[in-house]
Amino acid sequence: MARKKIALIGGGQIGGVLTQLIAMKQLGDVVLYDIVEDLPQGKGLDIAEASRVDLFDVHVKGTNDYKDIEGADIVIITAGLPRKPGMSRDDLLVTNAKIMHLVAENVKKYAPNSIVIVISNPLDAMVTLCQKITGFPTHKVIGQAGILDSSRFATFIAWELGVSVKDVNALVLGGHGDTMVPLIRYANVNGIPVMELLERKYKDKAKAKEVMDAMVNRTKMAGGEVVKLLKTGSAFYSPASSAIAMAEAILFDEKRVLPTCAYLNGEFGINGYYVGVPAVLGEGGAEKIIELTLNEEEKALLDNSVKAVKELVVDMERLGL
Ligand code: APR
Repeated sequence: MARKKIALIGGGQIGGVLTQLIAMKQLGDVVLYDIVEDLPQGKGLDIAEASRVDLFDVHVKGTNDYKDIEGADIVIITAGLPRKPGMSRDDLLVTNAKIMHLVAENVKKYAPNSIVIVISNPLDAMVTLCQKITGFPTHKVIGQAGILDSSRFATFIAWELGVSVKDVNALVLGGHGDTMVPLIRYANVNGIPVMELLERKYKDKAKAKEVMDAMVNRTKMAGGEVVKLLKTGSAFYSPASSAIAMAEAILFDEKRVLPTCAYLNGEFGINGYYVGVPAVLGEGGAEKIIELTLNEEEKALLDNSVKAVKELVVDMERLGL
């Protein structure tokens, strides 16, 4: 059986980590594309030269020629600028939309049968644009955000409760911005509601709520927290790991239920927009959206987040992007 081909568009911080993870997990041959001359070739060479040590024999090729992505099974897009301190993801809209136009045209031309995972920000708008330009079926163009946001939420819960993060299940819905919706009611430790454990720990409902609210807020601002510390860019290890989880689910037809920026056709009462929701990921891409019951408060928070996504998409259209 031929090895799968994975094309990475953008050979910056996330692109580099993606390449290394794909190689070490032997998911397939990698083509790393970047517009900057020699950069992807340098990273590709560096990672390939670790193959004897890490014992992988997939091929890694850096390139400045889109032709090399021909026939890719999966394309992961990170091309675009990252945030600098003080910037919101939305501040990247104009610059990254222009870059997405170039990228998506070439993905359409050279990898017409691929499944595309977008990471570039502002995420929900960039996935929308990528699907529009490629014209690919909506379930084959998806975005990575929710796995990372949910993993951040789970990490904070595990630290707070002093339990293994492996046993924490946490889900974040909505757009990949400050309005995202970490779902408190559904957060659990191997089935035990996190709120119950917090109330047991603090023996005080109000205090437990205060601690949970702080974790929710930290989750919403978690990307900015990293940007502030790094100063020169945004998070790259965790976004790369999150996109790899999606790629693995697709490559191995795992049917994993993962928070995904997916196109909604009436699910959650949302029609015609890309928003973060749980989706079944398999060989067809986002094969199915999993709906869940939201109470009034959760629904209002999700509506507010969807409103922010819509505003960004409208802005993009108004600016002719
Ligand atoms: N075509 C291909 N690559 C491009 C283009 C283009 N037109 N324009 C820029 N790039 C490349 C840059 O040369 C750079 O190598 O995209 C890469 C982006 O890498 P970084 O600046 O290191 O950014 P990174 O941390 O990888 O984040 C990429 O993902 O999480 C988001 O907000 C983040 O939008 C950003 C993206």
